[in-house]
Amino acid sequence: MRPRKRDALLLWLLVCSGVAEALEPISTTIAVGMAAALTGILARYQNIFNYFHECCRPEWISFNRTRLKTDLDSKLFGQHIASRIILKAVTGFMSNDNPKKPLVLSLHGWTGTGKNFVSKLIADSIYAEGMHSGFVHVFTSTLHFPHAEHIATYKSQLQQWVRGNVTNCERSMFIFDEMDKMHPGLIDSIKPYLDYYDKLDGVSYRKSIFIFLSNAGGEDIIQTALEFWKEGRKREEIELKDLEKALSLSVFNNNNNGFFRSSLIDRSLVDSFVPFLPLEYRHLVQCAIAEMKARNMKPNHKVAENVARDLVYFPKSERVFSVKGCKSIESKLDFYS
Ligand SMILES: *[C@@H]1O[C@H](CO)[C@@H](O)[C@H](O)[C@H]1NC(C)=O
Ligand SMILES: *[C@@H]1O[C@H](CO)[C@@H](O)[C@H](O)[C@H]1NC(C)=O
Repeated sequence: MRPRKRDALLLWLLVCSGVAEALEPISTTIAVGMAAALTGILARYQNIFNYFHECCRPEWISFNRTRLKTDLDSKLFGQHIASRIILKAVTGFMSNDNPKKPLVLSLHGWTGTGKNFVSKLIADSIYAEGMHSGFVHVFTSTLHFPHAEHIATYKSQLQQWVRGNVTNCERSMFIFDEMDKMHPGLIDSIKPYLDYYDKLDGVSYRKSIFIFLSNAGGEDIIQTALEFWKEGRKREEIELKDLEKALSLSVFNNNNNGFFRSSLIDRSLVDSFVPFLPLEYRHLVQCAIAEMKARNMKPNHKVAENVARDLVYFPKSERVFSVKGCKSIESKLDFYS
């Protein structure tokens, strides 16, 4: 092993594993000696080094509310309700040293409205490594669990993964994308982890975060947004209560929906249902400008407007909301610049 790698591993042993703290009364020399011996052993297992470069400690995992608030205010467009709920829910959860259950958020809305993006902002505000953190796990239905006939295998695999990862670090985060395409049984298999249990088989899940993303309810949200628009009312006047009923009803009524047959909702294991509104032209202009900044390009309003104007909007006659939201901005921008 190269010396630098060895030093890094030594440092990890001292900082991550708490060896240094545990041995405080004994001289540091002995602690370092012991760690060095351990390093020798571990040196043979390179993957252990890779695995542990980040550790489950406050140096790597600590919530920065200012960061989340700033990011939500400046990088997420057109989502005044989602923004407010997320900030409140995550802040409340992360500032409680003894939560009674894990934080469970269910994000609903049409494609490209910012559900994945918000998950990333949450991860960025908690983990030093953001979405690259070894403690953040993303599961996509069509990618990880594509075949209905393998459901039994998927179930035990998912249970093992969640249990294994939370055992390693209680501040783990799990993101389930495409919930509407997920086999209902799969969610049932992790339900106990979301509940008010002190411990299950010796593992406490109470400090973990589960985020579910789905299109379910998206159409009802659009309907409500459209009604407001038609009545000439401001988008910002839409409140959670205007969407809550439509959202829960549609979630229940859609038979093909992973949520429907699993009893997540009946048992109120979800702390917040978060609606994402469909995006308008002006939001897509903002997205385009943000994307230019992210690419270190000089923000150009004219180009941003051209990009946004070129996208598809609905309903056909009024052209109010974007079909694909900010999702299509990236490739369009390549074309224009
Ligand atoms: C929290 O985030 C803000 C904004 O990104 C940053 O300026 C500040 O340094 C962060 N605080 C800590 C303790 O990392
Ligand atoms: C943690 O989850 C990942 C999937 O994101 C899985 O590959 C890995 O085996 C899990 N780790 C443990 C210790 O179970």
